[in-house]
Amino acid sequence: MRQPLIAGNWKMNGSKSSAEALLNGVVAGSGGLSKTEVAVCVPFPYLHLGEQLLAGSSVRLGAQNLCTESGGAFTGEVSGSMLADFGCRYVICGHSERREYYGENEASIAQKLTRATESGLTPILCVGETLQQREAGEMEPVIAAQIDGVVERIGIEAFAGIEIAYEPVWAIGTGKTATPEQAQAVHAYIRGRIAALNGSIAEKLRILYGGSMKPGNAAELLAQPDIDGGLIGGASLSADDFLAICLAGEQLAA
Ligand code: PGA
Repeated sequence: MRQPLIAGNWKMNGSKSSAEALLNGVVAGSGGLSKTEVAVCVPFPYLHLGEQLLAGSSVRLGAQNLCTESGGAFTGEVSGSMLADFGCRYVICGHSERREYYGENEASIAQKLTRATESGLTPILCVGETLQQREAGEMEPVIAAQIDGVVERIGIEAFAGIEIAYEPVWAIGTGKTATPEQAQAVHAYIRGRIAALNGSIAEKLRILYGGSMKPGNAAELLAQPDIDGGLIGGASLSADDFLAICLAGEQLAA
């Protein structure tokens, strides 16, 4: 059985004081969790705070992006080694918001995945279709292209050190969640695609669901055989909601 991973994606939200309160709240409430791994992916300016406040707890620190390059004259960018230096374990790569607003594509995402693993980070690779693509029956080819475009560049073996998050774009921040059956079908499709290349990597691969996962729907989503955790946006901004999702993971893993 794959250990569930519940990762918060704070996106561009928070202040020093709200970040401190949220980090402290997550640490305080997650002490009793032993079967679920918990992570928070904070904005860059709060990494140092995260490193300090999560120290000594089992909550892992993560970031939401990194540079395609490993260092040097890239004004405004942040390298994988800098994230590792602040104690990050995870980094989100290829989130749909980055694909849509910052032009990320399989080529740049593959570079980021390589930079992340070189730095000792575990990337969380996001894939997912838009509503238009789903309605046009293009969901599977879209997801296949997102996965294959990366596999071609970095090789299937690299997936031994990667987590995948399936995040249907139409469910992100909209309050519309994929039904457990819809999500399970895509997760199984993703695992099957990886399994066709390497069965043992596919078996161990964690595939998280993201898109309006909340305390009220987490248990039924996480109960699906191919859903191994969640990437939580909006609900990760409330310690109580985030912890309730973590608890749902814990109960199912028990
Ligand atoms: P959401 O975001 O939970 O607010 O839908 C998920 C994500 O974008 O990672």
